[in-house]
Amino acid sequence: MSKKISTIGVLTSGGDAPGMNAAIRSVVRTAISKGIKVMGVRKGYNGLINGDIFEMNTKSVSDTIQRGGTILQTARCAQFMTEDGQRRAAEMCRVFGMEGLVVIGGDGSLQGAEKLSKLGINTIGIPGTIDLDIACTDYTIGFDTAVNTAMEAINKIRDTSTSHERCSIVEVMGRHSGYIALWSAISNGAEMVLIPEKERPSDEEIVKEILESKKKGKKHFLIIAAEGVGGSEQLAKKIEELTGIETRASILGHLQRGGSPSALDRLHASMMGAIAVELLCEGKSNRVIAYRDGKYVDFDINEALQMKKTINEKMYEVSKILSL
Ligand code: ADP
Ligand code: F6P
Repeated sequence: MSKKISTIGVLTSGGDAPGMNAAIRSVVRTAISKGIKVMGVRKGYNGLINGDIFEMNTKSVSDTIQRGGTILQTARCAQFMTEDGQRRAAEMCRVFGMEGLVVIGGDGSLQGAEKLSKLGINTIGIPGTIDLDIACTDYTIGFDTAVNTAMEAINKIRDTSTSHERCSIVEVMGRHSGYIALWSAISNGAEMVLIPEKERPSDEEIVKEILESKKKGKKHFLIIAAEGVGGSEQLAKKIEELTGIETRASILGHLQRGGSPSALDRLHASMMGAIAVELLCEGKSNRVIAYRDGKYVDFDINEALQMKKTINEKMYEVSKILSL
């Protein structure tokens, strides 16, 4: 039997993602329901190092489930990358009496949680990133909302593209991951998707497909490009130059990170927040929660971070077939 814990902390780190508030709310309310005190850490590992920490109550998370962003704010913290920064952060956990910490963030934030765990702080990670690039889980908080946001924006671009018989390149987020791009391409019926996991076709190959599609009588040509592929503006110029077809590039950017979370994001975030607290109560540490094959499970963070996320080949193949 592990000893009963009395105080835990929660923080959000790295890029924000819609649904993080639902996860925070769930951590706070689950903990309080078990008689555990919850400390909110502002601005990720920055706030942990600087002691920007306050006690949360059930009211602290009222009226937050529907809000985008993170009420705890987030940050990228260079100091925490150093051993000294990590030691200071662990010390601050002790100063504030936190026996466990829930870290909501992407793979970088999880690496940070692993470091704290080694320094004796029980940590549980919740995968929060719009990129869906954490290999151990089929789902990361924020992805569903981000894809829906992108889909709605692309619908609008598609309207104007058709009216003008233009080619449109829409760049969506994902520096290292093409998941938002691939899901958007299928959901928006794009003619082509460019993702970092696949070799980019040459300009000539792209142009050939555009001209063939034009010959078939298509009124527009929609290319969804992941941010990691880059060069959308240059590609637009090149297509116009080689085909004479007016081409516009739109970069959706950070609008994909905001907005009210979808039901799916709220639900998974709420479940994962509750499970995180349960794991801490069981005395677990260095675990990350995952949703896999329809079940909530947890993995050792080191093992999880060694797993490789590959693009869903079937989805890639279907995206090509449907663009005929
Ligand atoms: P994300 O969590 O969304 O992947 P980052 O990769 O920017 O975002 O990581 C967020 C923060 O997590 C970093 O600013 C840093 O403070 C911490 N972090 C990232 N990688 C490590 C690491 N290898 N060791 C310790 N902390 C890390
Ligand atoms: O990891 C989430 C993400 O939105 C990526 O898709 C994107 O490449 C990156 O963060 C952008 O980071 P920043 O907010 O620092 O511009």
